[in-house]
Amino acid sequence: MNDRKQKRVRIKELLSESLIGKEIIVKGWVRTKRANKNVAFIAMNDGSCIQNIQIVADPAQIGDDTLKGISTGASISVKGELVASQGSGQSTEVNAKSIEVLGEADPEKYVLQPKRHSLEFLRENAHIRFRTNTFGAIFRIRHAMIFAVHQFFNERGFYNIHTPIITGSDAEGAGETFRVTTLDLNNVPKTEDGKVDFKEDFFDKEANLTVSGQLEGELAAMAFSDIYTFGPTFRAENSNTSRHLAEFWMIEPEMAFYELADNMDLAEEMLQYLVSYALENCKDDLEFLDKRAADEDKGRPQNERSELGLLERLEFVKANEFVRISYTEAIEILRNSKPNKKKKFKYLIDGWGTDLQSEHERFLVEKHFKKPVILFDYPKEIKSFYMRQNADGKTVAAMDILFPGIGEIVGGSQREERLDKLTGRMSEMNIPQEELWWYLDTRKFGSVPHSGYGLGFERLMLFVTGMGNIRDVIPFPRTPGSAEF
Ligand code: 4AD
Ligand code: MG
Repeated sequence: MNDRKQKRVRIKELLSESLIGKEIIVKGWVRTKRANKNVAFIAMNDGSCIQNIQIVADPAQIGDDTLKGISTGASISVKGELVASQGSGQSTEVNAKSIEVLGEADPEKYVLQPKRHSLEFLRENAHIRFRTNTFGAIFRIRHAMIFAVHQFFNERGFYNIHTPIITGSDAEGAGETFRVTTLDLNNVPKTEDGKVDFKEDFFDKEANLTVSGQLEGELAAMAFSDIYTFGPTFRAENSNTSRHLAEFWMIEPEMAFYELADNMDLAEEMLQYLVSYALENCKDDLEFLDKRAADEDKGRPQNERSELGLLERLEFVKANEFVRISYTEAIEILRNSKPNKKKKFKYLIDGWGTDLQSEHERFLVEKHFKKPVILFDYPKEIKSFYMRQNADGKTVAAMDILFPGIGEIVGGSQREERLDKLTGRMSEMNIPQEELWWYLDTRKFGSVPHSGYGLGFERLMLFVTGMGNIRDVIPFPRTPGSAEF
């Protein structure tokens, strides 16, 4: 005898038609209800997919009291028969035998109404925005991308390493770190010369939230050959832009025996893999976002509209090789470009050596090449101490990948594996060697050429979803002045 409780079926499964004619239980949240004396139509969603399932209910059978408690946002459990749908729009619907209201949602106070809300409004209501079509689609895609990242590296024999979130060194951060402390801020212990006495702190020294897992990742690559980290990183830079978060997730592979070109090959292959994965596995959600973006575009002046739709952009990146040019070549292109000559850039390019601003990156990608671009061999002055010094004495083996609509999506380099060159650069840049003794040890014992890069996961999400603001592709964004929820 089978007396187990009947299990609920997800809406995703109900839409597939295989359960037509069966009695099922479905649970979820009400999107809309339309009712008259004879019949009620309830559209409900359980987050398993973008589609709602329609519940058809006979008021005489379900009861007016129950129907009264069903409004937008309420949670319900429905028992009934899955039937082929009469109306257009969906393949199946449920003829309700009974409905239980699990949780009512006071229509006077529930903030989501069956209409389009602005993204700003939804950001202020981030606790509830998961229940909208747009954010449902975004965060299902986010899950798929996380899964695809692990699959990509696993298929290629990379090992995932958890690097620390609390770090005792600020090697890369240069002051852009968040401090971690248990000291009483109202009564900070001081040393004899009046400085904060971190010996009294939890770790007996200064500690910060990590800005990158790279340095620890390099240690693991010196044993496993190919590793990657995928973790949260924290930067206290005060940039309130649509591309920056104070807390973001980063994928950082690190490969022994890789030179810069191998590094670029892997990064390009990975980005194309992730985009292909989304196209194959997130079809319904992407089609919804594609339409959404097209609608938004219609409201813009002609010259600000995107040349390609979201799906077209994804197909394009999947199918086309990225352009690879050196920083020096890029500067030449920019110097001779129309916006530079006509002084349209906010930061004019007049010489070799300055860092590129996002307006320059986007010009190269969106106007000049109309393709993703990998820039390599940057001036050493604008890059980190650990990047491998080129023979010209001026540049390092760095590479950044620039994407349309986004600018920098990946930053990486071949690493300086030669101890004397590395320590030389550290002295020039005033980076204390004592603190990084463990990092320098890898260059003393079995040092090898190696490379790696960092992909900003939310920048990838911006590209894949076509959203314009990075606050909309992470569930709970942290930005200057904002850490609600
Ligand atoms: O270029 P970044 O600073 O490189 C590193 O951190 C290296 N340690 C990576 C490595 O070689 N292992 O950051 C890498 C990427 C950027 O290209 C960008 O996509 C993203 O991280 N990123 C941010 N994303 C969101 N908000 C921010 N504040 C970001 N800063 C960097
Ligand atoms: Mg960078």
